[in-house]
Order: sequence, then structure tokens, then C-alpha cells
Amino acid sequence: MLKKMLKVLLSLTLLVGFAGVAQAEMTREEYAIKFRRSSFTTMTWYMGAMSRMVKGEMTYDKALFARNAEYVAFLSKLPKDGFIPGTESGDTKAKPEIWSKADKFKDANDNMEKETAKLAELAKVGNFDDLKEQYGKMQKTCKVCHEEFKKKAD
Ligand code: HEC
Repeated sequence: MLKKMLKVLLSLTLLVGFAGVAQAEMTREEYAIKFRRSSFTTMTWYMGAMSRMVKGEMTYDKALFARNAEYVAFLSKLPKDGFIPGTESGDTKAKPEIWSKADKFKDANDNMEKETAKLAELAKVGNFDDLKEQYGKMQKTCKVCHEEFKKKAD
């Protein structure tokens, strides 16, 4: 009974979700590309203040750093859901290797999730030297993946 109710609820949710997409006059694939790109953008926005603190352009604020690091750790889990089949081309810089070397792409993504989570943990403690080091390690995971899986220009 409960299972059946859940099923109905789920299909309703999917319908509503789909209606939203249809309204925006986009295919599900176009929407997935928009989603993953904007989730990377959102994540990067929350790195901004941390980056300025690490570079010494802004006074270290433990609470703000910790909050943003937590957001980034969470947001880093989102983009992978947007790399669905059928999104190899379109308004995207994704390279075909994302799908042909899926294991390697997953490793690169797992690394980002791991290092952002570690930054969030360290940010609660608040040792600024540790944070600077871990921020660098986290940024490296972006670079590694972009070099192999993201096109440089359109
Ligand atoms: C697992 C691989 C991977 C990792 C790790 C990764 N990225 Fe990306 N990133 C991509 C790919 C692929 C694209 C291109 C997406 C597209 O155009 O569809 C991209 C695009 C972007 C964009 C452009 C978004 C736009 O508007 O098109 C930004 C900004 C970005 N990444 C930031 C980051 C940052 C910051 C990190 C590290 C915290 C990171 N990425 C880690 C694969 C990755």
C-alpha cells in the first residue's frame, strides 16, 4: 500500500518536473546541459570568498569560510547527474571522453567530492594554514578533470 502510494507520488513528481521542462521549451537533454553548467557555476560562486581569503585579499572569516565550504561540498555532488546520455553535443564543452572513459571521469568526480568534503571538515576546525593547503588540493581536482574532459573553446 505504502509502496503504491510512493509510486503514485513519484510519478506525479516526475510529471510536474517534466511539465516544468516543457514549459521552458527545452528537451530533457538541453535541460540537463543547462543544469550541469549552472551547477558548476553555482559551486564556483561559493568558492569566490574562500579564494579571496586564501589569497589574502580578504580577512579570514571562520564562519563564512565554513559555511561556504559546506555549500561547495554539497554542490559538488550535483553536476554528475547532468551528464545523461544524449548530452554529448549541444551547448556544451563536454568532451566525448566523459562517456568513452566513464570510469576515469567518475574517479575525477569522486576526487572532487572527496577533497571538497575534506575542506568542509577542516573549515569547522579553522586552522587557516590547513585550509590554504586543502583549498589548493581541492582546486587541483577541478584542473585535472577539465584538462581531460572539458573543451577549452567552443
Ligand atoms: C569530473 C570532472 C570535473 C570536475 C572534477 C570539475 N569539473 Fe568543472 N566542468 C567539467 C565539465 C565536463 C564541464 C563542461 C560542462 C558543459 O559544458 O556541459 C565543466 C564546466 C565548468 C564550468 C563552466 C560552467 C558553464 O557555465 O558552462 C565551471 C565554472 C567549472 N566547471 C568549475 C569547476 C570547479 C570550480 C571545479 C572544482 C571544484 C570543477 N569545475 C570540477 C568537468 C569537471
